Amino acid sequence: MSDNIKGLQGITAGQTAICTVGEDGKSLHYRGYSITDLANKGSFEEVAYLLLYKKLPTQQELDAFKKRLAADRALPKHLINVLELLPKESHPMDVLRSGCSVLGSFEPETDEHDGYAITERLLSLFPSMLCYWYHYHFDGKKINTQTDAPDIAAHFLQLLHGVVDPLHHKAINTSLMLYAEHGFNASTFTARVCAATLPDFYAPITAAIGTLSGPLHGGANEHAYDLISLYANTKDAEEGVKQKLADKEKIMGFGHRVYKTHDPRSDFAKILSQQLADERGDATMYPVAERIEQVMWDEKKLFPNVDFYTACVYHFCGIPKTLFTPLFVFARTAGWAAHIMEQRADNRLIRPDADYIGPGALDYVGIADRG
Ligand code: ACO
Repeated sequence: MSDNIKGLQGITAGQTAICTVGEDGKSLHYRGYSITDLANKGSFEEVAYLLLYKKLPTQQELDAFKKRLAADRALPKHLINVLELLPKESHPMDVLRSGCSVLGSFEPETDEHDGYAITERLLSLFPSMLCYWYHYHFDGKKINTQTDAPDIAAHFLQLLHGVVDPLHHKAINTSLMLYAEHGFNASTFTARVCAATLPDFYAPITAAIGTLSGPLHGGANEHAYDLISLYANTKDAEEGVKQKLADKEKIMGFGHRVYKTHDPRSDFAKILSQQLADERGDATMYPVAERIEQVMWDEKKLFPNVDFYTACVYHFCGIPKTLFTPLFVFARTAGWAAHIMEQRADNRLIRPDADYIGPGALDYVGIADRG
Protein backbone atom coordinates (compact mmCIF):
# COMPACT_ATOMS: atom_id res chain seq x y z
CA MET A 1 0.00 0.00 0.00
CA SER A 2 1.35 3.44 -0.86
CA ASP A 3 2.01 5.93 1.94
CA ASN A 4 -0.53 8.21 0.28
CA ILE A 5 -3.37 5.75 0.80
CA LYS A 6 -2.05 5.03 4.29
CA GLY A 7 -2.51 8.64 5.38
CA LEU A 8 -5.35 9.43 2.92
CA GLN A 9 -2.98 12.01 1.40
CA GLY A 10 -4.45 13.77 -1.61
CA ILE A 11 -7.75 11.88 -1.24
CA THR A 12 -10.83 14.07 -1.38
CA ALA A 13 -13.07 12.84 1.42
CA GLY A 14 -16.00 15.23 1.08
CA GLN A 15 -17.09 18.74 0.21
CA THR A 16 -17.01 21.84 2.37
CA ALA A 17 -17.93 25.50 2.05
CA ILE A 18 -16.06 26.46 5.21
CA CYS A 19 -12.39 26.71 4.34
CA THR A 20 -9.77 26.48 1.58
CA VAL A 21 -6.30 25.29 2.55
CA GLY A 22 -3.26 25.47 0.28
CA GLU A 23 -5.15 26.07 -2.97
CA ASP A 24 -3.38 28.16 -5.60
CA GLY A 25 -4.28 31.81 -5.08
CA LYS A 26 -6.59 30.92 -2.18
CA SER A 27 -4.23 29.53 0.36
CA LEU A 28 -6.14 29.90 3.62
CA HIS A 29 -9.59 31.40 3.48
CA TYR A 30 -12.44 31.04 5.96
CA ARG A 31 -15.75 31.15 4.07
CA GLY A 32 -14.02 33.12 1.31
CA TYR A 33 -12.15 35.62 3.51
CA SER A 34 -8.35 35.45 3.54
CA ILE A 35 -6.59 34.74 6.81
CA THR A 36 -4.40 37.76 6.07
CA ASP A 37 -7.37 40.14 6.15
CA LEU A 38 -9.00 38.39 9.08
CA ALA A 39 -5.86 38.22 11.21
CA ASN A 40 -4.84 41.81 10.40
CA LYS A 41 -8.22 43.45 10.71
CA GLY A 42 -10.57 41.10 12.56
CA SER A 43 -11.04 39.55 15.97
CA PHE A 44 -11.48 35.95 17.09
CA GLU A 45 -15.16 36.58 17.86
CA GLU A 46 -15.76 37.85 14.30
CA VAL A 47 -14.04 34.75 12.93
CA ALA A 48 -16.04 32.42 15.18
CA TYR A 49 -19.26 34.15 14.14
CA LEU A 50 -18.27 33.86 10.46
CA LEU A 51 -17.57 30.15 10.80
CA LEU A 52 -20.77 29.43 12.71
CA TYR A 53 -23.26 31.77 11.08
CA LYS A 54 -21.72 31.82 7.56
CA LYS A 55 -21.32 35.60 7.32
CA LEU A 56 -19.30 38.36 8.92
CA PRO A 57 -21.35 39.94 11.70
CA THR A 58 -22.63 43.49 11.67
CA GLN A 59 -21.53 45.55 14.68
CA GLN A 60 -24.88 44.84 16.31
CA GLU A 61 -24.62 41.10 15.68
CA LEU A 62 -21.05 41.02 16.98
CA ASP A 63 -21.98 42.93 20.12
CA ALA A 64 -24.87 40.55 20.79
CA PHE A 65 -22.65 37.49 20.14
CA LYS A 66 -19.96 38.76 22.51
CA LYS A 67 -22.57 39.59 25.11
CA ARG A 68 -23.94 36.03 24.97
CA LEU A 69 -20.44 34.58 25.25
CA ALA A 70 -19.55 36.87 28.17
CA ALA A 71 -22.72 36.00 30.08
CA ASP A 72 -21.95 32.28 29.97
CA ARG A 73 -18.56 32.08 31.68
CA ALA A 74 -19.53 30.86 35.14
CA LEU A 75 -18.90 27.16 35.65
CA PRO A 76 -21.87 25.07 36.78
CA LYS A 77 -21.42 23.36 40.17
CA HIS A 78 -21.35 19.81 38.81
CA LEU A 79 -18.55 20.74 36.43
CA ILE A 80 -16.59 22.38 39.24
CA ASN A 81 -16.90 19.15 41.23
CA VAL A 82 -15.46 17.14 38.33
CA LEU A 83 -12.62 19.62 37.74
CA GLU A 84 -11.64 19.35 41.39
CA LEU A 85 -11.71 15.56 41.21
CA LEU A 86 -9.53 15.29 38.12
CA PRO A 87 -5.92 14.68 39.18
CA LYS A 88 -3.34 17.45 39.16
CA GLU A 89 -1.24 15.17 36.95
CA SER A 90 -3.89 15.16 34.18
CA HIS A 91 -2.84 16.72 30.94
CA PRO A 92 -4.94 19.89 30.47
CA MET A 93 -6.13 18.50 27.11
CA ASP A 94 -7.63 15.59 29.06
CA VAL A 95 -9.28 18.12 31.36
CA LEU A 96 -11.00 19.82 28.42
CA ARG A 97 -11.94 16.49 26.83
CA SER A 98 -13.48 15.33 30.11
CA GLY A 99 -15.10 18.70 30.79
CA CYS A 100 -16.76 18.69 27.38
CA SER A 101 -18.07 15.18 27.87
CA VAL A 102 -19.37 15.92 31.37
CA LEU A 103 -21.14 19.05 30.18
CA GLY A 104 -22.90 16.90 27.60
CA SER A 105 -24.42 14.81 30.40
CA PHE A 106 -25.62 17.79 32.40
CA GLU A 107 -26.67 20.12 29.59
CA PRO A 108 -27.76 17.69 26.87
CA GLU A 109 -28.56 18.77 23.35
CA THR A 110 -32.24 19.57 22.86
CA ASP A 111 -34.26 21.56 20.33
CA GLU A 112 -33.73 24.67 22.47
CA HIS A 113 -30.15 23.93 23.58
CA ASP A 114 -29.04 23.22 20.02
CA GLY A 115 -25.66 23.06 18.28
CA TYR A 116 -25.33 26.84 18.16
CA ALA A 117 -26.12 27.24 21.86
CA ILE A 118 -23.77 24.39 22.78
CA THR A 119 -20.94 25.87 20.71
CA GLU A 120 -21.34 29.27 22.29
CA ARG A 121 -21.43 27.66 25.73
CA LEU A 122 -18.23 25.71 25.00
CA LEU A 123 -16.46 28.79 23.60
CA SER A 124 -17.26 30.55 26.89
CA LEU A 125 -16.56 27.65 29.20
CA PHE A 126 -13.36 26.08 27.85
CA PRO A 127 -11.12 28.92 29.16
CA SER A 128 -13.05 28.86 32.45
CA MET A 129 -12.66 25.09 32.82
CA LEU A 130 -8.98 25.17 32.06
CA CYS A 131 -8.15 28.05 34.39
CA TYR A 132 -10.35 26.79 37.22
CA TRP A 133 -8.68 23.36 37.10
CA TYR A 134 -5.23 24.94 36.81
CA HIS A 135 -5.57 27.37 39.73
CA TYR A 136 -7.33 24.82 41.94
CA HIS A 137 -4.59 22.22 41.54
CA PHE A 138 -1.50 24.39 41.22
CA ASP A 139 -2.28 27.42 43.41
CA GLY A 140 -4.88 25.93 45.77
CA LYS A 141 -7.37 28.64 44.67
CA LYS A 142 -11.05 28.31 43.73
CA ILE A 143 -11.41 31.12 41.21
CA ASN A 144 -14.58 32.87 40.12
CA THR A 145 -14.62 32.39 36.34
CA GLN A 146 -17.29 35.00 35.55
CA THR A 147 -15.09 37.87 34.36
CA ASP A 148 -16.26 41.02 32.59
CA ALA A 149 -13.43 40.79 30.04
CA PRO A 150 -14.50 42.02 26.58
CA ASP A 151 -13.54 38.86 24.65
CA ILE A 152 -12.25 35.32 24.96
CA ALA A 153 -8.55 36.23 24.75
CA ALA A 154 -8.93 38.81 27.53
CA HIS A 155 -11.10 36.44 29.58
CA PHE A 156 -8.40 33.78 29.43
CA LEU A 157 -5.57 36.16 30.33
CA GLN A 158 -7.63 37.68 33.12
CA LEU A 159 -8.31 34.25 34.61
CA LEU A 160 -4.76 33.02 34.21
CA HIS A 161 -2.77 36.10 35.22
CA GLY A 162 -5.30 38.41 36.85
CA VAL A 163 -4.30 41.17 34.38
CA VAL A 164 -4.56 41.65 30.62
CA ASP A 165 -1.38 42.96 29.00
CA PRO A 166 -2.36 44.66 25.69
CA LEU A 167 0.36 43.01 23.58
CA HIS A 168 -0.41 39.60 25.07
CA HIS A 169 -4.07 40.21 24.35
CA LYS A 170 -3.34 40.99 20.71
CA ALA A 171 -1.09 37.93 20.45
CA ILE A 172 -3.65 35.52 21.92
CA ASN A 173 -6.50 37.00 19.90
CA THR A 174 -4.50 36.61 16.67
CA SER A 175 -3.39 33.08 17.52
CA LEU A 176 -7.03 32.10 18.12
CA MET A 177 -7.91 33.39 14.64
CA LEU A 178 -5.04 31.41 13.11
CA TYR A 179 -6.09 28.25 14.90
CA ALA A 180 -9.85 28.58 14.33
CA GLU A 181 -10.28 26.46 11.21
CA HIS A 182 -8.29 24.39 8.73
CA GLY A 183 -10.40 22.22 6.47
CA PHE A 184 -10.32 18.43 6.75
CA ASN A 185 -7.43 18.27 9.22
CA ALA A 186 -7.22 15.23 11.52
CA SER A 187 -9.32 16.54 14.41
CA THR A 188 -11.98 18.05 12.16
CA PHE A 189 -12.18 14.90 10.09
CA THR A 190 -12.59 12.97 13.35
CA ALA A 191 -15.43 15.30 14.30
CA ARG A 192 -17.12 14.76 10.94
CA VAL A 193 -16.79 10.96 11.08
CA CYS A 194 -18.26 11.01 14.56
CA ALA A 195 -21.03 13.48 13.64
CA ALA A 196 -21.97 11.34 10.65
CA THR A 197 -23.17 8.56 12.97
CA LEU A 198 -25.64 11.15 14.38
CA PRO A 199 -24.64 11.32 18.06
CA ASP A 200 -25.25 14.45 20.16
CA PHE A 201 -23.21 17.60 19.51
CA TYR A 202 -20.76 16.96 22.35
CA ALA A 203 -19.52 13.59 21.06
CA PRO A 204 -17.68 14.88 17.95
CA ILE A 205 -16.14 17.79 19.88
CA THR A 206 -14.91 15.40 22.57
CA ALA A 207 -13.47 13.08 19.92
CA ALA A 208 -11.83 16.01 18.14
CA ILE A 209 -10.13 17.19 21.34
CA GLY A 210 -8.61 13.74 21.72
CA THR A 211 -7.32 13.84 18.16
CA LEU A 212 -5.95 17.34 18.49
CA SER A 213 -3.93 16.40 21.56
CA GLY A 214 -1.44 14.22 19.64
CA PRO A 215 2.06 15.55 18.87
CA LEU A 216 1.60 15.17 15.12
CA HIS A 217 -1.34 17.59 15.30
CA GLY A 218 -2.07 20.31 17.88
CA GLY A 219 0.19 18.80 20.51
CA ALA A 220 3.14 19.87 18.35
CA ASN A 221 3.20 23.36 19.91
CA GLU A 222 4.23 21.93 23.29
CA HIS A 223 6.90 19.78 21.70
CA ALA A 224 8.19 22.69 19.65
CA TYR A 225 8.63 24.60 22.91
CA ASP A 226 10.58 21.68 24.40
CA LEU A 227 12.85 21.66 21.38
CA ILE A 228 13.54 25.42 21.36
CA SER A 229 14.15 25.37 25.12
CA LEU A 230 16.88 22.78 24.75
CA TYR A 231 19.32 25.31 23.37
CA ALA A 232 21.08 28.15 25.16
CA ASN A 233 22.32 29.80 21.96
CA THR A 234 22.07 29.66 18.17
CA LYS A 235 25.25 27.63 17.72
CA ASP A 236 23.99 24.87 20.02
CA ALA A 237 20.63 24.98 18.23
CA GLU A 238 22.23 24.55 14.83
CA GLU A 239 24.40 21.65 15.94
CA GLY A 240 21.63 20.03 17.97
CA VAL A 241 19.02 20.13 15.23
CA LYS A 242 21.48 18.85 12.63
CA GLN A 243 22.24 15.94 14.96
CA LYS A 244 18.55 15.20 15.44
CA LEU A 245 18.05 15.16 11.69
CA ALA A 246 21.03 12.84 11.31
CA ASP A 247 19.38 10.60 13.92
CA LYS A 248 16.17 10.69 11.82
CA GLU A 249 14.21 12.47 14.54
CA LYS A 250 11.14 14.45 13.61
CA ILE A 251 11.42 18.11 14.46
CA MET A 252 8.11 19.22 15.94
CA GLY A 253 6.52 22.33 14.50
CA PHE A 254 7.87 21.70 10.98
CA GLY A 255 6.24 20.31 7.88
CA HIS A 256 2.63 20.00 6.89
CA ARG A 257 0.46 17.53 5.03
CA VAL A 258 -1.15 20.08 2.74
CA TYR A 259 1.24 23.05 2.57
CA LYS A 260 4.39 22.15 0.70
CA THR A 261 6.56 25.27 0.94
CA HIS A 262 5.00 27.59 3.48
CA ASP A 263 2.28 27.77 6.16
CA PRO A 264 0.70 31.25 5.91
CA ARG A 265 -0.26 31.17 9.59
CA SER A 266 3.38 30.88 10.60
CA ASP A 267 4.16 34.39 9.29
CA PHE A 268 1.77 35.96 11.79
CA ALA A 269 3.04 33.80 14.64
CA LYS A 270 6.64 34.69 13.78
CA ILE A 271 5.97 38.44 13.73
CA LEU A 272 4.13 38.27 17.05
CA SER A 273 6.89 36.18 18.51
CA GLN A 274 9.47 38.77 17.48
CA GLN A 275 7.39 41.63 18.93
CA LEU A 276 6.98 39.78 22.21
CA ALA A 277 10.68 38.87 22.32
CA ASP A 278 11.57 42.55 21.86
CA GLU A 279 9.10 43.54 24.57
CA ARG A 280 10.65 41.05 26.99
CA GLY A 281 14.22 41.76 25.99
CA ASP A 282 14.61 38.11 25.01
CA ALA A 283 17.97 37.44 23.42
CA THR A 284 17.80 33.65 23.41
CA MET A 285 14.53 32.00 22.53
CA TYR A 286 13.60 33.94 19.42
CA PRO A 287 17.11 33.82 17.87
CA VAL A 288 17.28 30.09 18.64
CA ALA A 289 13.88 29.55 16.98
CA GLU A 290 14.99 31.51 13.91
CA ARG A 291 18.18 29.48 13.65
CA ILE A 292 16.21 26.23 13.86
CA GLU A 293 13.98 27.53 11.07
CA GLN A 294 17.06 28.27 8.95
CA VAL A 295 18.60 24.85 9.59
CA MET A 296 15.36 23.05 8.76
CA TRP A 297 15.07 24.90 5.48
CA ASP A 298 18.73 24.44 4.52
CA GLU A 299 18.85 20.78 5.45
CA LYS A 300 15.36 19.51 4.60
CA LYS A 301 13.48 22.29 2.78
CA LEU A 302 10.98 22.06 5.63
CA PHE A 303 9.24 25.20 6.90
CA PRO A 304 7.68 26.04 10.27
CA ASN A 305 3.98 25.33 10.62
CA VAL A 306 1.68 27.43 12.81
CA ASP A 307 2.71 25.55 15.93
CA PHE A 308 6.41 26.42 15.90
CA TYR A 309 6.37 30.18 16.50
CA THR A 310 3.08 29.96 18.39
CA ALA A 311 5.02 28.04 21.03
CA CYS A 312 7.28 31.11 21.45
CA VAL A 313 4.27 33.45 21.45
CA TYR A 314 2.52 31.55 24.22
CA HIS A 315 5.69 31.25 26.26
CA PHE A 316 6.35 35.00 25.98
CA CYS A 317 2.75 35.58 27.13
CA GLY A 318 3.58 33.68 30.33
CA ILE A 319 1.42 30.68 29.51
CA PRO A 320 2.58 27.37 31.02
CA LYS A 321 3.57 24.88 28.32
CA THR A 322 0.86 22.32 29.01
CA LEU A 323 -1.81 24.97 28.39
CA PHE A 324 -0.60 25.65 24.80
CA THR A 325 -2.68 22.98 23.06
CA PRO A 326 -5.82 23.77 25.08
CA LEU A 327 -5.69 27.29 23.58
CA PHE A 328 -5.90 25.58 20.21
CA VAL A 329 -9.11 23.93 21.48
CA PHE A 330 -10.63 27.32 22.43
CA ALA A 331 -10.19 28.39 18.81
CA ARG A 332 -10.83 25.23 16.82
CA THR A 333 -14.13 24.64 18.64
CA ALA A 334 -15.59 27.19 16.20
CA GLY A 335 -14.23 25.29 13.19
CA TRP A 336 -15.27 21.88 14.52
CA ALA A 337 -18.78 23.15 15.22
CA ALA A 338 -19.11 24.58 11.70
CA HIS A 339 -18.07 21.21 10.25
CA ILE A 340 -20.44 19.24 12.49
CA MET A 341 -23.29 21.47 11.32
CA GLU A 342 -22.23 21.11 7.69
CA GLN A 343 -21.99 17.32 8.06
CA ARG A 344 -25.42 17.11 9.68
CA ALA A 345 -26.98 19.27 6.96
CA ASP A 346 -26.08 16.77 4.22
CA ASN A 347 -25.23 13.62 6.11
CA ARG A 348 -24.13 10.19 5.03
CA LEU A 349 -22.30 7.66 7.21
CA ILE A 350 -18.51 7.89 6.62
CA ARG A 351 -17.33 4.33 6.30
CA PRO A 352 -14.42 3.58 3.96
CA ASP A 353 -13.13 0.16 2.89
CA ALA A 354 -9.78 -1.37 3.82
CA ASP A 355 -7.60 -3.85 1.94
CA TYR A 356 -7.47 -6.96 4.10
CA ILE A 357 -3.88 -8.16 4.65
CA GLY A 358 -4.45 -10.72 7.47
CA PRO A 359 -4.38 -14.53 7.29
CA GLY A 360 -6.70 -16.55 5.03
CA ALA A 361 -9.49 -18.81 6.39
CA LEU A 362 -8.26 -20.73 9.47
CA ASP A 363 -9.83 -23.77 11.14
CA TYR A 364 -11.13 -23.13 14.64
CA VAL A 365 -9.46 -25.43 17.18
CA GLY A 366 -11.14 -26.05 20.56
CA ILE A 367 -9.25 -24.48 23.49
CA ALA A 368 -8.31 -27.86 24.99
CA ASP A 369 -6.54 -28.87 21.76
CA ARG A 370 -4.51 -25.69 21.25
CA GLY A 371 -0.75 -26.07 21.62
N1 ACO B 1 10.99 16.79 10.88
C1 ACO B 1 11.81 16.00 10.15
N2 ACO B 1 11.41 15.38 9.02
C2 ACO B 1 10.16 15.59 8.62
C3 ACO B 1 9.27 16.41 9.33
C4 ACO B 1 9.73 17.02 10.49
N3 ACO B 1 8.93 17.82 11.21
N4 ACO B 1 8.08 16.43 8.68
C5 ACO B 1 8.23 15.65 7.61
N5 ACO B 1 9.48 15.14 7.58
C6 ACO B 1 10.02 14.23 6.60
C7 ACO B 1 9.69 12.81 6.98
O1 ACO B 1 10.67 12.22 7.79
C8 ACO B 1 9.57 12.15 5.64
O2 ACO B 1 10.88 11.93 5.14
P1 ACO B 1 11.23 10.59 4.32
O3 ACO B 1 10.34 10.66 3.09
O4 ACO B 1 12.66 10.72 4.06
O5 ACO B 1 10.85 9.45 5.22
C9 ACO B 1 8.94 13.23 4.77
O6 ACO B 1 9.35 14.47 5.36
C10 ACO B 1 7.43 13.16 4.74
O7 ACO B 1 6.94 13.16 6.10
P2 ACO B 1 5.60 12.51 6.58
O8 ACO B 1 5.61 12.40 8.06
O9 ACO B 1 5.32 11.25 5.80
O10 ACO B 1 4.58 13.62 6.09
P3 ACO B 1 3.06 13.68 6.46
O11 ACO B 1 2.41 14.49 5.44
O12 ACO B 1 2.52 12.31 6.74
O13 ACO B 1 3.06 14.42 7.89
C11 ACO B 1 3.22 16.05 9.49
C12 ACO B 1 2.80 15.76 8.07
C13 ACO B 1 2.55 15.08 10.45
C14 ACO B 1 2.77 17.46 9.86
C15 ACO B 1 4.76 15.96 9.60
O14 ACO B 1 5.38 16.97 8.81
C16 ACO B 1 5.24 16.01 11.02
O15 ACO B 1 5.26 14.98 11.70
N6 ACO B 1 5.61 17.22 11.52
C17 ACO B 1 5.99 17.37 12.90
C18 ACO B 1 4.73 17.44 13.78
C19 ACO B 1 4.03 18.75 13.63
O16 ACO B 1 4.62 19.81 13.60
N7 ACO B 1 2.70 18.68 13.56
C20 ACO B 1 1.83 19.86 13.47
C21 ACO B 1 1.21 19.95 12.10
S1 ACO B 1 0.28 21.45 11.90
C22 ACO B 1 -1.06 21.26 12.89
O17 ACO B 1 -1.51 20.18 13.16
C23 ACO B 1 -1.69 22.44 13.41
